[in-house]
Amino acid sequence: MTFENAKCFLEKYNQKHLLDFYNELSTSEQSELLAQIEKLDFSILKSLNTENKASDKKGKIEPLITAATINDIAKNSKEYYEIGINALKSNKIAAVLLAGGQGTRLGFDKPKGMFNIGITKNLYIFECLINNLMKIVKTSGNWIPLLIMTSEKNNDDTVNFFKENNFFGYNNNYIDFFVQDMAPSVDFNGKIYLESKSRISLSPNGNGGWFSSIIKSGLLEKLKTQGIEWLNVFAVDNVLQKIADPQFIGAVIKSGSQSGSKVVAKANPDERVGAMCLEDGKPSIIEYFELTNEMAHQRLEDGELAYKFGVTLNYLFRIDKLEEINNSRLPLHIVRKKIPYIDKNGNFITPKEPNGYKFEKLILDMIHMHESCLPYEVIRNKEFAPVKNATGVDSIDTARELLKENGIIV
Ligand code: UTP
Repeated sequence: MTFENAKCFLEKYNQKHLLDFYNELSTSEQSELLAQIEKLDFSILKSLNTENKASDKKGKIEPLITAATINDIAKNSKEYYEIGINALKSNKIAAVLLAGGQGTRLGFDKPKGMFNIGITKNLYIFECLINNLMKIVKTSGNWIPLLIMTSEKNNDDTVNFFKENNFFGYNNNYIDFFVQDMAPSVDFNGKIYLESKSRISLSPNGNGGWFSSIIKSGLLEKLKTQGIEWLNVFAVDNVLQKIADPQFIGAVIKSGSQSGSKVVAKANPDERVGAMCLEDGKPSIIEYFELTNEMAHQRLEDGELAYKFGVTLNYLFRIDKLEEINNSRLPLHIVRKKIPYIDKNGNFITPKEPNGYKFEKLILDMIHMHESCLPYEVIRNKEFAPVKNATGVDSIDTARELLKENGIIV
């Protein structure tokens, strides 16, 4: 793209200011900026007219009717295990680690998975996850393909870290990295921010873009050639989660559901976690801030909370269903954030208050695009130790305690 082309193009979208410092840039910086403009998806700016409408569009919300509860699972554990382990042995399952997030709440300046949660020894978050997956590799006798999603911001650090640590003992022929898309950050008037004179302010476009990024990377074809049918998608931050868990896989396959979601009973009605529900009769996830106080405390006849099951961000999806679902239909969430930027005079500003919007697609919206999803309850203290914050709830400290409780030396 030439300067003139870029100018015309940006005029159309009212974003000409992105070229304000063009004449001050070196030739390579100029090319870098033009290349960024060419790659940018400007169509998402249209959604600004409907700020935060993604959540407003929710249909009729009702409590779930069925779930695989801890008791149900205990009763059927052998059968579920057999079905799941057979699927693993016949190479039907791959795992997808979502590690493109920025982990702002943790406040660690590297990819979250590089955080060392050990006390007496090194124990990195990525290492915990690989150790968990290795247990299944050992029992099934098969390497499970592992896809790791990064973002442009953290890809190099992540890939190098895995290499330096010899993939924590995992067979790297079974590991593939892919990079998720980025979206521009804008001010409250929809003007795209610059993060330097030559760079547009971009951030990862949320964890919902993972499947379209797999397609773009060419890895979907590879998975299909390998005969993979199911993807177990999971977040980077839950250090206790079982990955490619045979019982979970078996329960979902047995139920005939198109997808499955590992859930925990909420610690209290107001816990800040998305809850599984029905929306217009289809599976869905309602975020904690979308639940009214009345709904959060609503009880069923048996005394249990009506919206009891919080999601742990560990899902099982069928590849063929994912292909049917048009990913572009995923709603775009427009989120108020503090966005560092370059002002009109070229000064770098770090705002103290939110000063604009970022655009994100969320994996939880994929659940509602399926006809069925089996909520699969796991024992909280055994499988849910998310590292979201530096201190307090869901923090390094709480995760360390839970690791110790489960016999893992930290
Ligand atoms: P979170 O919603 O906790 O976001 O991500 P985050 O970026 O890690 O942390 P905060 O909110 O800034 O503190 C849940 C999962 O989704 C992944 C994260 O890496 C994590 O595994 N994720 C999130 C992505 O892969 N890409 C994204 O754009 C956002």
